[in-house]
Amino acid sequence: MKKIIKILKEKKSIPLDKFIDISLYDKKFGYYMKKNPFGKDGDFITSPFVSGLFGEMLAIWCVAYWEQMQKPKKILLVELGPGDGTLCNDLLKTFKQFKNFYNSLEINLLEISDKLKNIQKNNISNKKVRWIKKINQINYGPVIFLANEFFDSLPVKQIYKRKKIFLEKYVTLTNNKEKLKFLHKKANRYLIKNIKNLNLISTGNTIEYPIEAIKFLGSISKKINKFDGGLLIFDYGYKIKKNKSTLQSVKRHKYLDVLLKPGNSDITSHVNFKLFHKILSKNKLDVKKITEQGEFLKKIGILERANILSKKMTFKEKANMYFRLKRLLDISQMGNIFKVMFAKKKGVNFSLGF
Ligand SMILES: C[S@@+](CC[C@H](N)C(=O)[O-])C[C@H]1O[C@@H](n2cnc3c(N)ncnc32)[C@H](O)[C@@H]1O
Repeated sequence: MKKIIKILKEKKSIPLDKFIDISLYDKKFGYYMKKNPFGKDGDFITSPFVSGLFGEMLAIWCVAYWEQMQKPKKILLVELGPGDGTLCNDLLKTFKQFKNFYNSLEINLLEISDKLKNIQKNNISNKKVRWIKKINQINYGPVIFLANEFFDSLPVKQIYKRKKIFLEKYVTLTNNKEKLKFLHKKANRYLIKNIKNLNLISTGNTIEYPIEAIKFLGSISKKINKFDGGLLIFDYGYKIKKNKSTLQSVKRHKYLDVLLKPGNSDITSHVNFKLFHKILSKNKLDVKKITEQGEFLKKIGILERANILSKKMTFKEKANMYFRLKRLLDISQMGNIFKVMFAKKKGVNFSLGF
């Protein structure tokens, strides 16, 4: 908080995306840069923490896609924002059972946080895994990009249209200079042009403009078009334009005001999957219809796999596994609000799970 107050005393106000960027990714002060937020004792839980079956099924999906691509001699998997490395470890465990695939495989992890990178390095000991800082470093393929709860953690802008005027959301200090508050300033014409081009305009309500995600989608699309492969996304999100703020902040598994604990709480916004679909299609990729996490995992056989595993389990182990599965699949839990999207280079036919 002190750092944000210091910045705001100097700059008076900063745009929302800049505020999110500092809160989450400032080298010293940023939330992801100084702590491990995952798990029961942390602030939130993601699918790989709920059940190892999530990673196991994703691994099988990757192997099936590789087979459909005619088993290329080299296949690169890039995990975007790998957290503490749990998903990567689960994937590797299953990949090892597919010898030919495993021999062809290399993994790149794209991670912004040195703190998390060190945790990942401690948790994953496998020579196939390397760390990269930028998508640009990828220089061969085919490449499968995997993103679980990555895009919702990227900074967004918010814009309002009041009568005929577009206003951008900023963060500033309260009069006593001790707390933060939102402020609206006239949006610049480049920003207005961009949101018009993306057809994000709506009257009155909030327009969310995922400025960083759009940059990522651009550089990822380029690599896929150049080297072949695809992008598989799992995230909190929606298919139909909501025109309201989806910004939220979480600490110790509870929601709190976004402006209350910058640097000490996670800040996210839901992914606009329809927009992602449009951008990736415009980038000439073949984009499958957006589906729900529950549907996707069931279609690729998670229940059948659980059934097989359950045969060798005690009653207690079985109960635990199905309790966790329910959390991943149930429409009242992660099964519905989490959407899945797959975009790939045109050519090879592959739509497993969609
Ligand atoms: C919510 S966590 C998701 C963790 C993990 N995928 C999981 O499912 O448990 C977001 C991850 O993305 C990383 N991240 C966020 N922005 C990034 C960026 N611009 N470049 C690379 N990594 C980034 C964070 O440091 C963190 O590892």
